[in-house]
Amino acid sequence: MPIKLPFLKNKSNTNIQNLRLDKELLPCHVAIIMDGNGRWAKSRGMPRIAGHKEGMNVVKRIVRYASDLGIDILTLYAFSTENWKRPKKEVDFLMKLPMEFLNTYLPELIEKNVRVETIGDFDRLPEHTKKAVQEAKDRTADNTGLILNFALNYGSRNEMIEAVKQVAKQVQEGEINIQDIDESCFTDHLFTADLKEPDLLIRTSGEQRLSNFLLWQLAYSEFWFTDVFWPDFDESYFEKALYDYQNRKRRYGGI
Ligand code: IPE
Ligand code: IPE
Ligand code: MG
Repeated sequence: MPIKLPFLKNKSNTNIQNLRLDKELLPCHVAIIMDGNGRWAKSRGMPRIAGHKEGMNVVKRIVRYASDLGIDILTLYAFSTENWKRPKKEVDFLMKLPMEFLNTYLPELIEKNVRVETIGDFDRLPEHTKKAVQEAKDRTADNTGLILNFALNYGSRNEMIEAVKQVAKQVQEGEINIQDIDESCFTDHLFTADLKEPDLLIRTSGEQRLSNFLLWQLAYSEFWFTDVFWPDFDESYFEKALYDYQNRKRRYGGI
């Protein structure tokens, strides 16, 4: 059964009335760099944190829609290892957001059979952030629907260095031979070990860079960029990204 694109249809006056998504061609794993919160707020004369708050509401909408569409994994870049450089006030606010998000939204996630996961260096997060996120992970651990994977204090280079250390330790302790180190062995030591690689990467706000996000895992993903700031992103853009994705030709180096 083809999936209609109700949001895109409502919003657009172009001739997209007949656009459909093919369920078979939906990406299994979508990763999003949710960027532009600060500029969105600034353009409205508001403090940057107002943009983060608004961005949180967009997260809810997109999670809901991704779950309804039957997407398997949604990875959201929420805080990078470089974002600690920001003013303390902004960092403190960002560290409170997961708790606020989960306070109001965890019951719906549970009802929707969503499983909350994280990637990143969990240890460095403040206690209150860890507690809220861990509770959500524990309470959704047996759910079998959408995997909602938050990249929190995540940095791809840090992830790879940690993986290299773990592999080196295994060699040192005689558990594996150097000859046994291959792509699959390395992949098994990344935060994403249990997750399929992203099929589609979306970045909002007009920037076209990875900002230390999933450098290894995105080797063959399709990229989709929009100038729209994250707080203005909605289901219609998500539909457009999925539609464009299903019309890409993935060759993986073949012909
Ligand atoms: C993305 O929006 C959210 C985080 C990085 C936490 P930004 O805060 O980077 O907003 P801009 O890019 O400065 O507009
Ligand atoms: C990437 O956005 C990180 C997140 C969205 C969490 P940034 O705003 O930190 O990236 P740069 O600094 O523009 O590359
Ligand atoms: Mg940014």
